[in-house]
Amino acid sequence: MTVVMDDVVARESQFVLQTYKRNPVTLVRGEGVRLFDADGREYFDLLSGIGVTALGHAHPGLARAVADQAQTLIHTSNLFYHPYQGRAAERLAQMSGLPRAFFCNSGTEAVEACLKFARRYWFTQGEPRAEFIALDESFHGRTFGSLSVTSDPHYRDPFEPLLPTVTFVKTNDPAALLAAASNKTAAIIAESIIGEGGIKPLTPAFAAAIQEACAKTGALHIADEIQCGLGRTGKAFHYQTLGLTPHLVAVGKALGGGVPVGAALVGRQVADAIKFGDHGTTYGGNLLACRAALFVLEELTDRGLMTQVARVGRHFEERLRALAAKHPMVKEVRGMGLMWGLDLDREASPVVAAGLERGVIVNRTADTVVRLLPPLVITEAESDDALGRLDAALGAVGAAR
Ligand SMILES: Cc1ncc(COP(=O)(O)O)c(C=O)c1O
Repeated sequence: MTVVMDDVVARESQFVLQTYKRNPVTLVRGEGVRLFDADGREYFDLLSGIGVTALGHAHPGLARAVADQAQTLIHTSNLFYHPYQGRAAERLAQMSGLPRAFFCNSGTEAVEACLKFARRYWFTQGEPRAEFIALDESFHGRTFGSLSVTSDPHYRDPFEPLLPTVTFVKTNDPAALLAAASNKTAAIIAESIIGEGGIKPLTPAFAAAIQEACAKTGALHIADEIQCGLGRTGKAFHYQTLGLTPHLVAVGKALGGGVPVGAALVGRQVADAIKFGDHGTTYGGNLLACRAALFVLEELTDRGLMTQVARVGRHFEERLRALAAKHPMVKEVRGMGLMWGLDLDREASPVVAAGLERGVIVNRTADTVVRLLPPLVITEAESDDALGRLDAALGAVGAAR
């Protein structure tokens, strides 16, 4: 099929609801860490569809598993058993230490499920608690519950009123968190590394304050690991690095390697409070989604991908720090493993555009941050090639001032 860029753009601008401002590129094919546009131009993908395509593009094993499942049975609903949901849940339990999983279709649904399960827990205790604490730079998704614990007014304002029972505290301010938590707090929700808010890891002191606030008030801790979890930092979950023991964990993005699937991981205490019919979804955890998730989880653990991320991540970091030393516009390099932000002294968009022109895909977040979330399969040599292009993009933007 020949794809003509003008036709694609014209048709979309007529028929697709205009909620997305797209880059001027039509991508038609991928292979590993590379993407190709309709004219055959190659791009290094340092974004993986916003942290999703963990195994890169057109991974032969994942493609085989998905194709085989599509030819066998895609969906039956949660009215019936199938062979893969329990296996995917078992893997997640082994990786997270939380014994049960509820499958859904996206990150925001995983967060919704966690918020509902927290409320359900307190209802079961016979002392309903309505309040949530969230962080002032948080992003948890676009549905009403997730949006209610997302701080950015740009996302919130057009949709008010949202849940009125949310208190936002300053990220990484332990005293503010301890002051806000009370025996009315149902749960504290936090991304273990703030993603959309600019790639900001929680500090050890703040992590300790989460543990302390939960211990003092009984509040549950919901760790949002949708962007930073599932091997991206070289560990299964970043809360493990922080020494946290969340009661609920939201996962999504990388879980299906591109097949939409999310999950709420549930600790024993909360799981015991959940009854048949408390929550549900038509698609969530169907055969196709769970087969893909199982394959991704096996790659991460049995086939050593997480260990590779830890190794390549160190190389990636060295290269990024060298870029920062070379380009004074880079004020700070933040992140871990294969999740990084370059905080600039200016708007990041021109660097993103200059990167695209030079065949490397990154994106802008929190205005001044160039975000990098490469596929977890990226090698040292591929990192060098891709970051060489980013180096050129930073140079071009620096020279243009
Ligand atoms: C930390 C975090 N939570 C939740 C979400 C929402 O996920 P989704 O877009 O799949 O609904 C995102 C998406 O960017 C995210 O980064």
